[in-house]
Amino acid sequence: MAKGPSARRIAVRVLQDVERSGGFSNRALSRQLERHPGLDPRDRGLTTTLVYGVLRHRARLDAHIDAHAKRPKGLKGETRQALRIAAYEMLELERPAAIAISEALRSLERAGPLRGAAQAILGAVGRHGPELDAKWATGKPLHVLERRWSIPRWLGGRWLKHLGEDQALARARAVAAAPPVDLRVDLGRISADEAAQRLQADHPGVQIERLEEHPQALRTRGGGDLFYGPLHGEGLVSVQGLAAQQPARVLAPAPGSRVLDACAGMGVKTLQLAELMDGQGTIVAADLDERQVAEAEAELGRGRLTSDALTLTHVQADLTADHPALDAEPFDAVLLDVPCTGLGNLARHPEIRWNRTFEDIGARAELQARLLRRNLARVRPGGALVYAVCSFAPEEGSQLVAAVVEEGQASLEHERTWTPEADATEGFYVARLRPR
Ligand SMILES: C[S@@+](CC[C@H](N)C(=O)[O-])C[C@H]1O[C@@H](n2cnc3c(N)ncnc32)[C@H](O)[C@@H]1O
Repeated sequence: MAKGPSARRIAVRVLQDVERSGGFSNRALSRQLERHPGLDPRDRGLTTTLVYGVLRHRARLDAHIDAHAKRPKGLKGETRQALRIAAYEMLELERPAAIAISEALRSLERAGPLRGAAQAILGAVGRHGPELDAKWATGKPLHVLERRWSIPRWLGGRWLKHLGEDQALARARAVAAAPPVDLRVDLGRISADEAAQRLQADHPGVQIERLEEHPQALRTRGGGDLFYGPLHGEGLVSVQGLAAQQPARVLAPAPGSRVLDACAGMGVKTLQLAELMDGQGTIVAADLDERQVAEAEAELGRGRLTSDALTLTHVQADLTADHPALDAEPFDAVLLDVPCTGLGNLARHPEIRWNRTFEDIGARAELQARLLRRNLARVRPGGALVYAVCSFAPEEGSQLVAAVVEEGQASLEHERTWTPEADATEGFYVARLRPR
């Protein structure tokens, strides 16, 4: 049987795809992995580690490579990706240089004349890596963020301005590491201990941690795809970052209430709302994207969404505009999980740091402001709206909320920013508003 491409070869292709398309790394990775169903699970894991690792450390790896290259600009495309992978393996995975180099040369089948240069550069990266890392960890904070921690200059400058040096560096360090996989447990149907025991019995290798202040959460490491197993299928656990678990909890809709899940996407928070409502009441889950609405409908068989006491409707709609299914009757509670730059999620989606620009923040903020104003008007008097955004940019969160409060459209009942450096989770801004 012909041997398929190696993990490193597939990682090179994924990285090229992400760079060319400017798209999401998880989608590019899934596309490539689907093409190689025979790939050994360990190699699937290695491909994933290499892709995310290179994206998290890309500027630093390039600085190491370029420090030893005679003509850095000539190292492009797949050659550059293979060099980054080998440098990442040496610097972060502590792979012996001889192995990292020979694997890189193998994955560079068509590099021809560049092989000699690649070998020399990687040899030098192996010898001088720790010394250069130490050098780049000191000096002007903006340079440290940019070169040692791979935070683009425009973003590093904002962090320094908003957070100060210590917190900006703490954030950069926090998003340089692979994040754990957090699960939300439907505590109304299973205890967190029992869910943990069942997961552990099925997958002895996985590490599971309970989080003291978050009884509904399990934090896991080393579990790969396991969470899409039986517990997930029954809706007893759902994959959801700890910070992403907060907006629906802050809304806390009562059983029997009428709730709008505005920007419901594929419905991760819709199921959580149904759990909090004990499977009783009405949920309208709306999103602009037809494909996501269809995927959310396919989830209907999971957990509390099947409850007879729950009326759940999926609507494809632009939530900035009027719509008969959304405007016929006001809602007791609205969860507004707006589309955003994703700049709070740099650990899980590391490509975001390379694909976003400063201008993207303004463009998103304009849409978010329209979504916030239009959907505040959908809340009944005395009801509540929770605004949630997976970004730290004040323009996408606190500033928008402050504007509607100052205009007298709503009062602010709760506001919190979740951060990787303080809360060991993705970044989220969550505000609970009561319309006036
Ligand atoms: C952050 S995601 C929502 C994630 C989802 N709540 C979840 O928990 O899985 C934002 C969503 O907003 C949707 N969206 C973007 N613009 C919209 C608009 N004008 N009206 C309605 N939905 C919109 C996107 O399709 C995307 O699914």
